Amino acid sequence: MNDRTTPALAPSATSGCSTTTAVRGSLVWFGTDPFLTSSEQALEYVEDGLLVSQNGRITAAGPYTELADGLPTGTTVVHYRDKLILPGFVDPHVHYVQTRIIGAYGDQLLDWLHNHVYPEEVRFADPAYARRFAKLFCDQILRNGTTTALVNCATYPVSVDALFEETTRRGMRVAAGKVLMDRNARPDLLDASPLQGYEESEALIRKWHGVGRSLYAITPRFAVACTDEMLRSAGELWSEHPGTLVQAHLAENTREVREVRALFPDRKDYVDVYEHHGLLGRGAVFAHAVHMDKREWRRLSATGSGIAHCPTSNLFLGSGLFAMREARKPKRPVYTGLGTDVGGGTSLSLMQTMNEAYKVGQLGLLPMDGTKLFYLATLGGASAMGLDGVVGSLAPGNEADFVVLDPSATQLLAVRTAESETVDDLLFALANLGDDRAVAATYVNGRIAHERDPCLDAKPDRAGRRRWTRSLNKELRWFRFEEDAGWSKDLEVPNAWSPYAPGVEAYKSRLYCLHQNTFQDESLWWDVYDKDTGSWRGDRALHDALGAPVPSYGPLSVSHANDHLYYVHHRAYSDSRLWWARYNTEEGEAGWSSDQVVKEADGREVRASGASLTVYDGRLYCVLRREDGRLRWLTHDTRSGEWSAERDVPGGLTSSRTPVVERFKDRLYCVHDRGDGQLYWLTYDSASGRWSGSRRIEGPDGAPVHTSYTPAITRYNDYLYCVFHQEDASGWGRLWWTRYDEEKGWSRPERAGNAISSPGFDISAFHGPLFCVHRG
Ligand code: GUN
Ligand code: ZN
Repeated sequence: MNDRTTPALAPSATSGCSTTTAVRGSLVWFGTDPFLTSSEQALEYVEDGLLVSQNGRITAAGPYTELADGLPTGTTVVHYRDKLILPGFVDPHVHYVQTRIIGAYGDQLLDWLHNHVYPEEVRFADPAYARRFAKLFCDQILRNGTTTALVNCATYPVSVDALFEETTRRGMRVAAGKVLMDRNARPDLLDASPLQGYEESEALIRKWHGVGRSLYAITPRFAVACTDEMLRSAGELWSEHPGTLVQAHLAENTREVREVRALFPDRKDYVDVYEHHGLLGRGAVFAHAVHMDKREWRRLSATGSGIAHCPTSNLFLGSGLFAMREARKPKRPVYTGLGTDVGGGTSLSLMQTMNEAYKVGQLGLLPMDGTKLFYLATLGGASAMGLDGVVGSLAPGNEADFVVLDPSATQLLAVRTAESETVDDLLFALANLGDDRAVAATYVNGRIAHERDPCLDAKPDRAGRRRWTRSLNKELRWFRFEEDAGWSKDLEVPNAWSPYAPGVEAYKSRLYCLHQNTFQDESLWWDVYDKDTGSWRGDRALHDALGAPVPSYGPLSVSHANDHLYYVHHRAYSDSRLWWARYNTEEGEAGWSSDQVVKEADGREVRASGASLTVYDGRLYCVLRREDGRLRWLTHDTRSGEWSAERDVPGGLTSSRTPVVERFKDRLYCVHDRGDGQLYWLTYDSASGRWSGSRRIEGPDGAPVHTSYTPAITRYNDYLYCVFHQEDASGWGRLWWTRYDEEKGWSRPERAGNAISSPGFDISAFHGPLFCVHRG
């Protein structure tokens, strides 16, 4: 028996959040291995449960009624009514570098590798291509509820860098490595020598293993593509770096097994090829294991090695039927999880993988119930990777990666699960009918990392308390508009992400974009666009006058006035006070002021659910929405630094979302909505001190403008532009625009470029064009 220790784990406190996360719902996890005890014994279930985590680690999981009182004061409990909260799924075998060739027709393993896989993997020598697919891959696995994966990258170290950059930024517990291969494939994909493969792997171990939650996996691709020397150096690497993992393919296809026999005539069998080089043990995971004899099973069991059963792949490539009965024999069990094996596998969903595993189990005379299937996809996979006790369970002490499943996600699921009388049956229905639609939310390291149908900005509950639903980071993108050139292509703002609408404003010779970044620290960050270079300068944390980061929550508004750039925002979910600061580039006063509470002249603190700023007639105007929906306004004297008293916008006007304001010609314009999904507008005239009544925005044909989110307005050339968000019939979000002309009124709404956008965007005119920054 190999006595290797389980992978060494860096403490995750540095990357965890310092706040408490508490979610309420039905808790489900597995206390033991149901194949070795029984499903009844293994299943842990708390019908009305509370799951609490701190610093990314689970601190309590139990009945809500027992735990709620012990929560730190001010903790927000997110209630997932009628939903199941389970450990995040663990995918112990997947190739992110094959995402794009998923579902390639026709061939079996060896031809499929040469015809489809290898030509795609060579593209990952390009770091930009690798980054694109690393990002896409992470988005996709999170939307499927997968929080830990063991990932094959390509031969090139840059393909590993791209993945770990993405997973560490998101705080994910992911293991990955560069594939080692030095024969039987196109030369541009091969390692030049075993020594080079060894050295590159070792450099990657030093660079990534233990950084955040990253783990390195030494990855000899499979015996067909590795010489004895390559396998030997992989084994040496593993013994020199305890705590790393090993991953390889094993006995997937009969032709492959025959080739291995011919290539390694001195070895007893395929497992012996790996064991001979010290590659078996705890933390070594072998994918497929379809064509195995009894001796091979015994060796895997005796050494504590793990297996990834990849049913969608084995069926898709015609590889064969995995023998779950052999793998899970109580006398000599092998740690087993379910791998998606995309691109050989046809889905990144572990629920779809359970579905196929069940059918393969039926053919092997081992029907598996809901408990066994979900065990394999959570704690089973974690155990195969040697990560039991770390992930794959809701037991306190585990890392806070979990998934919220919706048993009524689709009509069919809803009617099927309405009849479920046991939790096991509920799980079984989800295993067979579930996919990414059934994943209501995914949490990584105690923070929300994916949310189905995110809806944000000023969404009050019945008591009017809640101001925004929590939302998740989306990459920021931008495009621009010129009256003769039209809308430009949609481009990325490099490395900028935000969970809420950014605030965009031209100030002096630059365009500023302020936003939060919950991947980092939930504080304000900013980007600057330089017109001379036509590029965005790196995203960085905004620091106040004392050099400290500024905590921030929810959308914010930015405006320039009298040589300063101002913002108003909220600092925390539970703090409804408005805060403000200003920025100046001038010598002597350069930098941001301290972040302060907006206070009326008599010292009263101003509270709001959302606010918007603009400069008009020499003063900064702030129009806000109180928590009860009323529209209020106040002004700021940029010289004295004083705020006026706060007053009602007349007419008892209310808005269901944050109002937006902008000066246009000689008036202040305010656009708001009244909860009917249509936009309204009104004006203020400082000369008379009067507000107009609020009217519906209507195109020339009298049609109203429908939107589900806060719009953005700005003056540009001779018009007031309004950009707003709509979801089309397929659920994609698109941006639209209309503009106001004092004589002609509002124009007929048209699409603003081709971008697909999440809610949350802002616009500003800047040196010619009109810029729009939005959440992708
Ligand atoms: N065997 C060697 N490489 C691969 C691969 O990329 N996918 C699968 N399914 N099997 C392999
Ligand atoms: Zn594979």
